[in-house]
Amino acid sequence: MAAIGTDGLRERIQDGIEDLSKLTDDAFVGWGRVVFSEPYRVARDWVRRRMVEAGLETRIDASGNIVGRLQGEGAAKPIVTGSHTDTVVGGGRFDGVVGVLAAIEVARLVRESGQRLHHDLLVVDFLGEEANEFGVSCIGSRSVAGLLAADQLERRDLAGRRLGDVMESFGLDVGGSLSSAWGRGSLHAFVELHVEQGPLLERQHKSIGVVTAIAGIERLTAVFAGRADHAGTMPMTERLDALTAAAEAIVTIEREGCGAPVHAVTTTGRIESTPGSFNVIPERAQIWAELRSIESSWLTGARRRLAEQLAADAAARGVGVDLEWLSDQDPVPTDQSIQGAIGRAADMHGLAWTAVPSGAGHDAAHMAHMGPMGMIFVPSAGGRSHCPQEWTELADIASGVEVLLSTITDLDATSTVARV
Ligand code: GLV
Ligand code: MN
Ligand code: MN
Repeated sequence: MAAIGTDGLRERIQDGIEDLSKLTDDAFVGWGRVVFSEPYRVARDWVRRRMVEAGLETRIDASGNIVGRLQGEGAAKPIVTGSHTDTVVGGGRFDGVVGVLAAIEVARLVRESGQRLHHDLLVVDFLGEEANEFGVSCIGSRSVAGLLAADQLERRDLAGRRLGDVMESFGLDVGGSLSSAWGRGSLHAFVELHVEQGPLLERQHKSIGVVTAIAGIERLTAVFAGRADHAGTMPMTERLDALTAAAEAIVTIEREGCGAPVHAVTTTGRIESTPGSFNVIPERAQIWAELRSIESSWLTGARRRLAEQLAADAAARGVGVDLEWLSDQDPVPTDQSIQGAIGRAADMHGLAWTAVPSGAGHDAAHMAHMGPMGMIFVPSAGGRSHCPQEWTELADIASGVEVLLSTITDLDATSTVARV
């Protein structure tokens, strides 16, 4: 296939980021387009329109993903690329959005070149990638991978709403989301462009990251049950303080990450306690936390150690603890042939690249169940992400899109991408 020109690419990426940036919940500092929110619904309409303008046939699949198709010459399995447009609460403008805009641009550039890929190219805006109050991230990609479980639809958010009901009111086919897996071996390749969200590329002065593996994630919530008493009169030795038990657990969780002999991180992202007064000893406290590593043996060990330690520490305080593991996602290595194709594409464009692991979770981890998977990273300024300061230079995004385009045309020319 002859090289495809990239006229108009930067302008379209820039105005895409600007348009989507305006679709945000003003209640948050920074950007907030949380799954199932009104700004998210409007953003999805925007994405679908942009896919149509790029010449794609579009549909919302049974998993709630927006899928655009550029027809190929008839090779059996599609090449798939895409990412997500939901954000964390008070997040940035680039996480996910870059990969969706890039995927649409690649399809547009191929179509406008007048050339045909052998494979269909599917461009996907995956439903609800970010962690949410239901504790079920990557809803759309889990669903197409056949990994969305019926009991996950029973999960409730902090307002008590059931995930299945919320999906239904969003116009989705809840039954379909449990029975629409694409099937193992159904993809020729999946490639996702994403901002790095960490500092490695910037520190090493590289424009492109070739992702080697995506970290596994274990998410948990723990409820501590103590006893409410008068804060002025109950002696320190006789209290059943649920909040201090939760605080001790938070430090234990942090220590597990700090002491890890392999790359691992642990975070408690939320705590609540009741009744929440200066002068009442907390009766109940709840924390939400996660563990991440690209070593599954570390995750398994940490999960066991934390369950034991949290129970022992709470018991020593006379406080009960009920620990629930909300979701687990194994670490996923990327396909070595796709790593090779990305490296070759970066070389071809004269871009400095390096191999990097992903500490962030991605839809790509689920797409790897259906075929060979790879990811391309572009630098994040200061390594900042999931915050309003998240920033990636337009020139770096454009380089990433060029590498994505060249990687896809390279993979298109291969009859089978080896799975390693
Ligand atoms: C998604 O951005 C995650 O890594 O949690
Ligand atoms: Mn993301
Ligand atoms: Mn994210």
